[in-house]
Amino acid sequence: MRALRYLNLNREIHTVLLLDTAVGSLAQQGPSLIDIPTTSNAFCSREEVVESIIQLLLQDNPCRVPLHSPGGIGKTSVAVAAINDEQVKERNGRHIYFLGCEAIHSGEALISALAGFFKVPRDPNTRTALLAHLASLGRVLLVLDSLETTAQSDRQRLGELLGRFNRVSSLSVVITMRGTQAPEGLNWNALVPLQKLPLQAARQIWVNISKKMDDTLNELLERLDGLPLAIHLMALQGKDLAPSVLLAASEREAFNLVKATGTGRLHGLEASIRLSLDSRLITNERHVQPIIPVLCLLPN
Ligand SMILES: Nc1ncnc2c1ncn2[C@@H]1O[C@H](COP(=O)(O)OP(=O)(O)O)[C@@H](O)[C@H]1O
Ligand SMILES: [Mg+2]
Repeated sequence: MRALRYLNLNREIHTVLLLDTAVGSLAQQGPSLIDIPTTSNAFCSREEVVESIIQLLLQDNPCRVPLHSPGGIGKTSVAVAAINDEQVKERNGRHIYFLGCEAIHSGEALISALAGFFKVPRDPNTRTALLAHLASLGRVLLVLDSLETTAQSDRQRLGELLGRFNRVSSLSVVITMRGTQAPEGLNWNALVPLQKLPLQAARQIWVNISKKMDDTLNELLERLDGLPLAIHLMALQGKDLAPSVLLAASEREAFNLVKATGTGRLHGLEASIRLSLDSRLITNERHVQPIIPVLCLLPN
């Protein structure tokens, strides 16, 4: 049976894949199975925005929630926190679906992925059949995560599909995507774009992941510009290395950068990535090194 399966790779790079697998006892629940990502133990802060999304998801009317902001700011994490809320789960029954759209390059491919999941036959009428199927489910919540690839490659067809979603009165949609604008088509609810995290929250993430503390921690974290991805990557390094060691290393990287280019400030994310690349784990695993820069560019 087809299932949406969440994979957490190395605890930091995660994605959702469409898999054709037998899922044991879950199979007995029928096609409307929930297998949504769970909230990370390190997740903190963002109470206000998560609560505002939860309130939208609990309304009687369907909602259309656009989470669009730069990569690594925490869009997916916020969406996941909201859909894991107990009241939201209860309100939507089993019909909560989470689809990672990183590899979906066209509106047609998105229809095909959804049709495959919902077992709607793929033919010239797939879109109509898919919409009819969604309408037949009653209250449904669909999360389209990392929709930027689809939006960039096929904005028009995506807009058309989202426009059709408007007509399914029981369908709520949450999207996450990099960028400053949500795609056209749906009447989006207003939502404040995610902001960088304050120092206090960065410290909390650090404490949740790494136990190593010293007097230089604030300075190290301030260099990471409140970007959750950068903080998360640095905190993983902080499992092995003290903040003072990481601070010195990031200063060294910044110095090398200036020396090499004659200019430039090392941004928080770049510093975290460079130190991750230099980490003992990575240098011991030489075959892993070439793929890390590519992985860091991926939406998740
Ligand atoms: N509020 C948060 N608390 C703790 N970690 C977070 C938070 N937001 C994001 N992260 C971490 O930062 C990284 C990037 O977050 P993610 O939600 O994937 O960002 P985006 O979807 O905007 O690219 C992930 O490793 C995630 O676990
Ligand atoms: Mg994301």
